[in-house]
Amino acid sequence: MRGIGVLIIALLILPNAFAYQIPEKNVIYQIMVDRFYDGNQSNNGPFYDPTHTKYRLYWGGDLEGIIQKLNYLQELGVSMIWLSPVNDNVNKIIYGSAPYHGYWTRDYKRIEEHFGDWRTFRRLVEEAEERGICIIVDFVPNHSNPATDGELASLYNNGTFITNYYYDKQNATRNQYTGSLENIYHHNGNIKNWFGFELKYANLFGLADFNHLNPWVDEYLKESLDLFIQSGVCGFRIDAVKHMDLGWLTQFYAFAYQKEPLFIYGEYYKLDTSKSDDMFYFYQYSNISPLLSIPIRNDIVRTFAYGGSLKDLSRKIENYYSHLVYPNKAVNFLDNHDLPRYLSESKNKDRYHMALSLVMTLPGIPVIYYGDESYLVSKDGKGDPYNRPMMHFNSSTEAFRIIKTLAKLRKENNALAYGDLRTLYANYNTWVFERTFGSEKILVVVNKVDDKNLEIPLNWSNGIYRDILYGIEMNVKDGKAKIFVPKDKILVFSFKDEEEKPLIGSVTPYLGQPGQKIVLGGVAFGKNGKVIVESEYEKKKAKIIEWNDEMIVFEMPQIRTQKAWVKVYIDNGKESNEVKVRYLSGEQITSLIVLNASNLTGQLWIKGDIPELAEPIPLLKSKNYYFQVVSLPKDAVFEIQLYKGLPWEKLEPLNVTLYGKSNSTVILSEEPITRETNVKAICGVGMVLVISLMILLFRRD
Ligand code: NOJ
Ligand code: CA
Repeated sequence: MRGIGVLIIALLILPNAFAYQIPEKNVIYQIMVDRFYDGNQSNNGPFYDPTHTKYRLYWGGDLEGIIQKLNYLQELGVSMIWLSPVNDNVNKIIYGSAPYHGYWTRDYKRIEEHFGDWRTFRRLVEEAEERGICIIVDFVPNHSNPATDGELASLYNNGTFITNYYYDKQNATRNQYTGSLENIYHHNGNIKNWFGFELKYANLFGLADFNHLNPWVDEYLKESLDLFIQSGVCGFRIDAVKHMDLGWLTQFYAFAYQKEPLFIYGEYYKLDTSKSDDMFYFYQYSNISPLLSIPIRNDIVRTFAYGGSLKDLSRKIENYYSHLVYPNKAVNFLDNHDLPRYLSESKNKDRYHMALSLVMTLPGIPVIYYGDESYLVSKDGKGDPYNRPMMHFNSSTEAFRIIKTLAKLRKENNALAYGDLRTLYANYNTWVFERTFGSEKILVVVNKVDDKNLEIPLNWSNGIYRDILYGIEMNVKDGKAKIFVPKDKILVFSFKDEEEKPLIGSVTPYLGQPGQKIVLGGVAFGKNGKVIVESEYEKKKAKIIEWNDEMIVFEMPQIRTQKAWVKVYIDNGKESNEVKVRYLSGEQITSLIVLNASNLTGQLWIKGDIPELAEPIPLLKSKNYYFQVVSLPKDAVFEIQLYKGLPWEKLEPLNVTLYGKSNSTVILSEEPITRETNVKAICGVGMVLVISLMILLFRRD
């Protein structure tokens, strides 16, 4: 009996193997569920096209089909699957299309019947987990479904009708500060100007835009996200983050991270690295969440498919990474469901293999779009929906071999997962870069157009090294490497030595509030030790939840700080390097900050004396007010400074101090707010103490 009891307790406290993921060690496989594999023919209709020629109808793919193909994916070496949205979508044809893609949700608490049900979803999670694969879900919190067509943005709460766009509008009110007409949805028309207010508060391509300041919406989306968390997913791809307030997203992510140390990355759609809209705020200051590397993708494809300078590409990529606190958490890809597949741009397979290998060796987590390994491409057209043909399975291609080899290398050599990037040599047709993590190193040699004998400085031990992909030799002697590189190849060399001191390479998530679990990945952690969290005021020893040589899970302690980032390092007899966590100082609430500054003009910013406000936040302007949605700790009193300028310039202080206190709406005031002590609470505690003392004194026993 005792044995069974212990076993039950052990089962209860054993963490889900994937609760503690180190994302950088993985390769993601992106699946458009409807186009992957039909495992259950009974759920194919309605709007089903068995001929797979009408690209805007359902083609039969489902969750059961993915389960049946897990062995294939395991063989490919991918270890995270990103599913296109699986929530219940509208049951109508809109703009000539069925919602086979999953981006027109009507019920966030149910699974789309064409794809399966919650039971099948959980079985997928479990069966994937048995094969070392975890599930990431595409979640769409910006909008539900088309506002003026189809089901008119009907929204359901686990089957119960809540509203549609028209009922919602009848009871909509105008927010006096932002000028937005809103209820559950925003009613501000469609986005026409792709910046400022419209970008966040108008409908994206006619899709009904959620009003996240509405507490019901906030709770509904959190409860829905939690259904996936409780079903064992290891992360989320969040759709259209460009169109939501970063303040709302921050506390939404914080909610998720309180449950599990998940891997969440956002889709900020921007095809280049130019300085415009609020992209630079996202990168330069906030670094709240990893993003898909959309801005560098076109440059990569262009350089390999059409030609162009590798030196220019290397500079663009390095510049892109320079804005990120954690470049190794960027989510890199070649193909996806919104852009033409590489092979529809150019048929040259050697160059395709190069581009694929580059994506798999750059800092960041690579995504393989379904069929990248089997040269899947439509003969009917290029972009959406032709970039979504039915999957063709083939495990004997060169692309399959490359993906498998580099996915394995990512598990074996930490430089790929955690290393920095340093260009050793670059010209128009050649780029040599090194990835280094302590004494683990990777050398990547990219060479287009002609065969080449290269001689480059390289600080590796003398010897002959064999490239992982093609077996080509490199001779290193006295700080110089000689390599013969065939044209149109990427060579990858690996070097590994023992690490003597603990070295941290990964922090997941890097947004943390007290009590939340954070996973550190790295090497030489040993069997035990301390995790120290340090601010400008104090050092705290964190509670350890799990500790092994390559991974630590700790609990974020409460710490006094006014800065956005706190330092984290470990001490196991030897001290590690320092990494950073963006600190959230308490339970987060969404807050609309308002500044009545009709006399001011231009782009204003605020910066405050609590961690949540420590990095500059841009304000939007309505008719009479400046405003922004921010994530604040409950019950905080804070001081704010005003700045002016553009995100890519140095901000100019305006020497104006304002004050505020956390609430759902905060009107910034010129009068300081006293941090009043709670007199009632003090009296209450005092009374309890006096009574306890009296009981103790007069007790007779
Ligand atoms: C971005 C998605 O990737 C795209 O496919 C979708 O249509 C839009 N967001 C709207 O949800
Ligand atoms: Ca929006």
